[in-house]
Amino acid sequence: MLFKHLCRRDAVLVLFGAACFYTFSAVSVLNAGPEYHEQIVTEPPAMQTVSPVLKQAVPVDLGLVQDFPETSVVAHAPGWTIFRNLYMSSGSLLLVTRDPSQFPEHRMMTSTGLPGNLTNDAQRIPTPKEMAFVTPEEAKRRWGGDINTRNRVSTVEGTTLLFNDPPQFLNHYFHFVAELMFGSWAFLYGAFHDQTAKPSAASTNPSFNPPLLPTSVPTINRAIFIHSDVDGWRDGPGFNGYFMRAVFPSMTIEVATDWIDRVNATANTEIGRAWHFPLVLLTDRSAAFRGSICGAYTQRTAAEAWTVMAKAGKIDLIGNWWAGIRTSLARYAGGGPHEDENLPSVLQVPDTVVITYINRQGTRRHLRDEDNRALIAAVEELIARKNRQGGKRWEFNNVHAEQISLDEQIQFAAKTTIMLGVHGNGLTHLVFMKPTRVSAVVEMFIPGGFARDYEWTTRSLGMTHYSVWNNESFTHPHEPVLPDYPDGFHGPNIPLDGPFVARLIEQHVAMKEKGVPSVDNSPVHDQH
Ligand SMILES: *[C@@H]1O[C@H](CO)[C@@H](O)[C@H](O)[C@H]1NC(C)=O
Ligand SMILES: *[C@@H]1O[C@H](CO)[C@@H](O)[C@H](O)[C@H]1NC(C)=O
Ligand SMILES: *[C@@H]1O[C@H](CO)[C@@H](O)[C@H](O)[C@H]1NC(C)=O
Repeated sequence: MLFKHLCRRDAVLVLFGAACFYTFSAVSVLNAGPEYHEQIVTEPPAMQTVSPVLKQAVPVDLGLVQDFPETSVVAHAPGWTIFRNLYMSSGSLLLVTRDPSQFPEHRMMTSTGLPGNLTNDAQRIPTPKEMAFVTPEEAKRRWGGDINTRNRVSTVEGTTLLFNDPPQFLNHYFHFVAELMFGSWAFLYGAFHDQTAKPSAASTNPSFNPPLLPTSVPTINRAIFIHSDVDGWRDGPGFNGYFMRAVFPSMTIEVATDWIDRVNATANTEIGRAWHFPLVLLTDRSAAFRGSICGAYTQRTAAEAWTVMAKAGKIDLIGNWWAGIRTSLARYAGGGPHEDENLPSVLQVPDTVVITYINRQGTRRHLRDEDNRALIAAVEELIARKNRQGGKRWEFNNVHAEQISLDEQIQFAAKTTIMLGVHGNGLTHLVFMKPTRVSAVVEMFIPGGFARDYEWTTRSLGMTHYSVWNNESFTHPHEPVLPDYPDGFHGPNIPLDGPFVARLIEQHVAMKEKGVPSVDNSPVHDQH
């Protein structure tokens, strides 16, 4: 169940990724993209300077104003843009401004929202139907009331996540949680979290569901999936819905039909009307692939968001920025004990080493059966030997994800130090591991095969990633530059030298326990 559809999806991913590599990398060198790449446009969050009690923005009634507030960009990376005062009318996102030159190119922010494939780059370039500039005077002419009537602009209050992608990658646990939501949180946290403010959850946000770890990231009121119906953003095993409801219990979710209501309310009318979004994170997969980090290197949309914020020092390199999310989910799933707000500033040595094997033998892409048995035997031997020697306790969980509940899967992930598995969706759970100095993901591929999905994601949290080809392994920076899916990649006969993997784990733990705390995910050097 968990791994349903994966093979087809991986194939699409390669095609899409490869297409983007050849076209987008060329384009982003020629055009002005890089300046928005490197540069983070931040405005100090208004809330930083006022006392916590006054922090909530005072709503402005746009029915009565003389001039509509102009649109501004709080932060931007290819495919990820935080706006203040974004407008929508007739389905087009409108930037009200006198100075269009201060904005990134539209194609680096949005697209037509079509599914990506090798031949439709041009059809995914946004047109004025998707995004356009409007002068303040024109906005007033279109939507302004006269002396006796209100302006025809309605505010959609609070913070909105505006997702411009089709279901193509939304309905998949890895792409939804470990790319879209992972990148969204990296970007919002980077733009708004103020380490010095230490707001208490209660004072900023009277709520039945306060954030478990305090943050000055504004409450996210809603997510809108512009091009997806209710099923389009949900994955087969049900993790996407589980994640959204567990971590953001008050968030409202709108889908394409709801968006059409809003489009029609402004389109099918003689008079002009608009919606006003005071604070929006707009994300777009096609636009992220136009950036060189995603398009030419990682094929991970979240890497654009993460890199801009990590380079600017706005998020740490050891996954503390993500701790609020993983802690919320771990507490919701049960089990425990879980993290509190005293997050360490360097990675700690854990008290126990918990090896979790995401066993895929019940699904299509898996190890040769005898190699799977040898792997389990070798890891069991390692665990028994370590526990006989005394000292740190070692634990081994051989997990068939498709046979246990979602809660149990998250409980296993939350206590895992070393996650082990054949390349596949089950490894997405790595984002719920608590990073320690020893934390690692060991990903097994058919010899010659490689994909950066879990590799980049593991390192972005400060953990170590090993790729294993039977009896060889490599880790960053020695991985292949490009993904490769040779024959047998998705098949049931992946060879593996189990004792080799057990030795790799043993050596890794010994090395990390002795060594100085270090991470190998510098955003400055981490670009080919
Ligand atoms: C690619 O997408 C376009 C729509 O944007 C579609 O017309 C075309 O048939 C697709 N091509 C392939 C090979 O799927
Ligand atoms: C929106 O407007 C279009 C075009 O007028 C119409 O075909 C469609 O039924 C409307 N949809 C909704 C949900 O009102
Ligand atoms: C690794 O496996 C290959 C294929 O079975 C074998 O030819 C090679 O000798 C092995 N290398 C080592 C170091 O065991």
